[in-house]
Amino acid sequence: MKTILVTGGAGFIGSNFVRHVLARTAQYRVVNLDLLTYAGNLENLKDVERDERYAFVKADIADARAVERVFAEHAVDLVVNFAAESHVDRSIVDPEVFVRTNVLGTQVLLDRARAAGVERYLQVSTDEVYGSLGPQDKAFTEEHPIRPSSPYSASKAGADHLVHAVAHTFGLPAVITRCSNNYGPYQFPEKLIPLMISNALEGKELPVYGDGKNVRDWLHVDDHCSAILRALEAGKAGAVYNIGGASEMENIEVVRLILRAVNRPESLIRFVKDRPGHDRRYAIDAARIRQELGWEPACRFQDGIAETVRWYLEHRDWWERVKAGEYRKYYEMMYAGR
Ligand code: NAD
Ligand code: DAU
Repeated sequence: MKTILVTGGAGFIGSNFVRHVLARTAQYRVVNLDLLTYAGNLENLKDVERDERYAFVKADIADARAVERVFAEHAVDLVVNFAAESHVDRSIVDPEVFVRTNVLGTQVLLDRARAAGVERYLQVSTDEVYGSLGPQDKAFTEEHPIRPSSPYSASKAGADHLVHAVAHTFGLPAVITRCSNNYGPYQFPEKLIPLMISNALEGKELPVYGDGKNVRDWLHVDDHCSAILRALEAGKAGAVYNIGGASEMENIEVVRLILRAVNRPESLIRFVKDRPGHDRRYAIDAARIRQELGWEPACRFQDGIAETVRWYLEHRDWWERVKAGEYRKYYEMMYAGR
């Protein structure tokens, strides 16, 4: 059995990935290393916490000693780095922690992964490192120049460059994946889709930035997880793989769709001041991962969004506890002092 060190496994995509690996494979043990920042929630993994193939360690990826201890205690074969500060709006207000976690944290992990001689290091990056597209521009390929425009995307681009440098200089067998916007269960309700669903259900206003015509390409989180597992197992060392849903939509269309799905009026929409430096459009050309690795997304946006709205309707206690900050007590109850 091989051990995958998953960092940031208590967040949105990381927790879906941990569940994905445990449910769909028999050959991996998962060690989840997470600092449990505001975005980390162990309630996301309640259903797997007693699985013998799963272990949790509370640690900071930017703390070299702590990361060294984890590598010393577990025979790590593969690393998947999800741990990051992930919200663009927060990076505009307070960029420092983004540099610490996303850049320094990645360097610490790379150093330890190299020292341990892991089989694969996979860096979970983002389409935002390519910058913004105009309405007629072609979708991003892996050769598109790196032109980040927010402190968040700049820190993720910095991390990508470090991964490339360590792979090139020391031969670390690393892979980088760059995905478009994810949606699905357990997404922190500061991001567009869960914020709009939960606000609508609470009868609150839905704040749409600017004219609402910014375009994002949406991918269900399960499809992102299957792509990461595929790239981890079969991706070429040194390669970059774009991952996307070929599902571009204007924000306002997404918001209207959500309002229809929860049967709430469009009068809840409130156009608010735009995000500073707001990227206009992202679009992903995922031909490489489709052709080289045979990956295909399984979920169409119309089905995925309907299923996601249902999930938030059925898990009101989950997002209410998150919005109220209650979820943060779970770690103390279940893990602290163990
Ligand atoms: P998230 O904010 O929901 O989760 C991040 C997790 O990382 C949390 O559990 C948090 O506690 C943990 N973390 C933060 N700082 C840490 C540190 N210093 N040490 C250890 N753990 C730490 O993020 P997400 O939306 O699940 O995104 C996961 C990854 O995927 C990120 O790297 C992000 O850049 C990338 N990504 C996200 C999307 C998206 O649409 N959400 C799309 C493409 C790529
Ligand atoms: O493209 C991948 C990226 O997608 C990831 O790398 C990031 O981690 C993830 O947060 C996401 O970034 P975005 O900035 O695209 O996601 P967000 O949900 O914050 O916003 C989506 C769009 O909706 C964006 O154009 C801004 C707009 N928006 C967002 C919020 C939170 C609103 O209009 N109102 C809002 O309240």
